[in-house]
This record gives sequence, C-alpha cells and structure tokens, in this order.
Amino acid sequence: TPRIVNTIAEYRALRNEWLLAGKTIGFVPTMGALHQGHLSLAKTAKQDCDKVVASIFVNPAQFAPTEDLDRYPRTFENDVKLLSTVGVDAVFAPSVQEMYPAGITLDVSKQTGTFVEVKGKSHMLEGSVRPHFFRGVATVVTKLFNVIQPHKAFFGQKDGQQCAVIRTMSRDLLIPTEIVVCQTIRETDGLAMSSRNRYLSVEERETAPVLYRALRAAEVLFEGGERDANVLREVAGKILKESGVPVEYLSGKIGKDGAMMSGAVRIGKTRIIDNVLLGVE
Ligand code: PAJ
Repeated sequence: TPRIVNTIAEYRALRNEWLLAGKTIGFVPTMGALHQGHLSLAKTAKQDCDKVVASIFVNPAQFAPTEDLDRYPRTFENDVKLLSTVGVDAVFAPSVQEMYPAGITLDVSKQTGTFVEVKGKSHMLEGSVRPHFFRGVATVVTKLFNVIQPHKAFFGQKDGQQCAVIRTMSRDLLIPTEIVVCQTIRETDGLAMSSRNRYLSVEERETAPVLYRALRAAEVLFEGGERDANVLREVAGKILKESGVPVEYLSGKIGKDGAMMSGAVRIGKTRIIDNVLLGVE
C-alpha cells in the first residue's frame, strides 16, 4: 500500500531518499473520487518512472462560490485502495492550510497573494463558463510541482484545455517537469469517466453519452475526409440539439496539425465535458 503523506516536510524527506537512491519520480495530480481514468494515468506513470506519487487535494481555488466544493465527492479510503492496485508509492494528501498557508477565499475580489495566470488560453471555452477556473488550476499545479518536484507529470486528455494551459504554463515558467498527456478512458457506452458522473441520476446517466456521440460523429466525418470545421460543428450540434440537452459550447478549428473538437453540456445540474482529437495519433 502507498505511504500516506500529509505534510510538505514529510514528502521532502521521502523525496531526498528517493533521489539519493537514483530514482525517477512520476506525479499524478488528482482531486480524489478516483476512477479508471485516474488509474490509467498512475499505471502509465508507473511504467515510465521508478516512484509514483499521486496527490489527492480538492483545490478550493478552482471552484467558484456557486460551485460544488462542499459536495465534491470525497472517498479517500477507497482512493488509496485503488492506487495500491497499480503500485503507487505515495499519496500526497495535504490540508488546505498546508497548500494555502495564507488562506484561500473563493471570492476572487477578496483574494490577496500570489496566483498563476495563463493569459490567452484561460478565458475561452471552459474559461468562458468558469472564468477563474484555470487560474486556480495553474496556481495549485505550480504549488504541487514545487512540492513534489517530479521528473514527469501525467494528465488526462479528457480535460484537453487543462492540458494546454499546463503545457503553456510549464513552458513560460521554465518548469523542469515533463508533461505527459494520456488518452481519455471511457465507459462502454462512450461516456468519458469523471468523478462528477456519480452525480447523475439513472435517467441522466442514460442521456450523458450524447456529447461523445456528437463529437464522435464529427470525428467519423473528419476521418472520411471532411475538413470544413463548420460542417463538423454542425453535425455534432445537430445531434446535441435533437437530444434536447443544453449546450454550453461546442468548439473546434482545424489547423495544419489537426484539431481538438470539444464541448460542454449540462445534464440536469451536472456539467459534462469531452473532446476528440482530429488528425492526431
Ligand atoms: P481531476 O478531475 O481529479 O483529474 C485528475 C486527472 O485525471 C486530470 O489530469 C484529468 O484529466 C484526469 N482524468 C479525469 N478523467 C479522466 C478520464 N476519463 N480519462 C483519462 N484521464 C482522466 O483535473 C483535476 O483533477 C484538477 O484540475 C487538478 C489537475 C488535480 C488540479 O487541481
């Protein structure tokens, strides 16, 4: 079973031991409520690195005051069990006080202190619906990188814009950690696994795969040679419209290296996001 580490000081001591023994360190940041998507990142990390650290920290700074911070699922014991099945060496599970020594308020207008903002990538798509979300993500990932100091860190393509923000941040802030993006893990009906899927009622769960069905329809057309992004968006948009689910955005431009087509819908009170990579292996 993995070693549970709650403080930065304890982790630093463990890391020193590992480095003296010449070990490489892989890192999988999470907010817990783990599922096979998270575990696939940990498995890849374990194949790539000698030691793997997963963090479990529900980061207040990436929640708006109106969002689900208080009811975000917390399943720590089960998470640790799952991580032990894939050979994770340590679970870093700090308190809010440990990560935000000066405190953190969700009300952005009252925040003071230091934050990381990735301009130009954070205010469209997810950022247009959740304006301070990526600032919270970039800030906590920077802090976690400064604690864990991993050789490599593993992120899921499911959160495609998050991957882009973290890549840009790492480049701009000269962060020495290599960023590895892993493919999206899905349920058998195509729904991308997500900690928030457990909010869905039985009927909502049946509706939820529609976003992937829509994105997949666009992908099939792309594979058949269609290169007009408007046509691809229309095809996906039509499927969503027929299902009647409210669409927050549906986006995709095609560049010379392929494209990401992404969307967000609301199923009841739950947001579902997903994306497909077009023309990228
Ligand atoms: P969380 O939603 O817990 O996700 C942790 C990691 O698991 C992210 O890199 C996410 O993209 C990946 N992941 C989630 N579902 C996946 C799936 N179905 N297939 C593959 N990977 C999947 O993302 C966060 O937490 C936070 O924003 C965090 C980066 C930890 C910062 O607080």
